[in-house]
Amino acid sequence: MQALLLVESTFLFYFFCRKRGEKNQFYAKCWKILNKWRGAWYNSDGANMETIIGKEEYIEEAARLLRDGQLVAFPTETVYGLGADALNPEAVSSIYVAKGRPSDNPLIVHLADYAQLHEVAVDVPPLAKALYDRFCPGPLTLILPKHPSIPSVVSAGLATVGVRFPSHPMARALLQKCGPIAAPSANASKHVSPTTAAHVYDDLQGRIPLILDGGSCEVGIESTILDLTQEIPTILRPGAITKEMLAEICLVATHSGEVKVALAPGMKYIHYSPRCDSVMCPPSKIPAIWKESREKGLAAVVIAREQTLQALGECESISLGKEDGEVMRNLYSALRSAEREYDLIILEELPEEGLLYSVMNRAKKSVQHHE
Ligand code: TXA
Ligand code: MG
Repeated sequence: MQALLLVESTFLFYFFCRKRGEKNQFYAKCWKILNKWRGAWYNSDGANMETIIGKEEYIEEAARLLRDGQLVAFPTETVYGLGADALNPEAVSSIYVAKGRPSDNPLIVHLADYAQLHEVAVDVPPLAKALYDRFCPGPLTLILPKHPSIPSVVSAGLATVGVRFPSHPMARALLQKCGPIAAPSANASKHVSPTTAAHVYDDLQGRIPLILDGGSCEVGIESTILDLTQEIPTILRPGAITKEMLAEICLVATHSGEVKVALAPGMKYIHYSPRCDSVMCPPSKIPAIWKESREKGLAAVVIAREQTLQALGECESISLGKEDGEVMRNLYSALRSAEREYDLIILEELPEEGLLYSVMNRAKKSVQHHE
């Protein structure tokens, strides 16, 4: 009976929109409702425990849970991570389940300091130490040949392992209390990465026992990934440590990301997508798209830099801030707050230089399937 009513009202709404020449509004509303259902279904399916959000006083408890084979979300300077004991294959497997992540996408192993590196990687080249001394702890992940002690579920069967030394004090305190932690970003698979404890809670409540709350992430996008197993060290994912910064230490190549078998398996998946429609365009085109979408009855919001918004005049907007670092820090939280209220995000296309090159790498992934 309820299903019949639903089908009937959908048809009625469709004909109503068609009569008013607003078919796009109909599609947008359906898309939004479907996404809400998808989110609600994901949140309820398998979500059966209490999730606590705790500050520093919970670090000891977090270490205990990890040793016990459970999952804990924790802050890093880039984005929040969803951690498990890297040496416990069952615990690591449960990360894939909690996130709904494909099991062929390997995880990064997090360490407190360089001395631990030899427990997770072999044949470490001297360059790794030079890079560590210059950029770590910090937002850089190194791909190295894997130590046999690392279970293959961590590296999704690859012979290499991604290693990172986060600088966030809470991550460091946790890593000093327990061994290596395998952790992807603590979002539901395909959603935007989380930069606050509340973002993690929105995606993973009921699926994990504890989220350590270390405030907003300073960097705001995931670490730069540098593959040291290639002849020329190769950037697989750009981040806050830019190509120019790495080039001060070594010769460095950039992976195009367009090959069929991606070097960073995560490249082949859609990442970072907000749960509403989104388009990206240069500032000059924003007013026309904004006007058109309003005419179609869509609730649209412009996400852009402060200087761009000032030049635009009246429109609903979320500012990314002025400086490049601010823009990087604010991108994900802007996308997450926009998806709650709007049908359409109109994202400013940024100049692809320095830090904004990395921001654009993520921005393109969040809009690519809507264009
Ligand atoms: O900043 C970050 O890196 C965050 C924080 C939590 O550390 N982590 C993160 O993890 O972004 P995740 O799982 O969302 O992204 C890891 C990426 C994936 O694209 C994966 O394919 C790639 O790293 N990756 C991991 N191990 C790899 C390996 N051995 N070879 C190539 N790519 C690898
Ligand atoms: Mg991720």
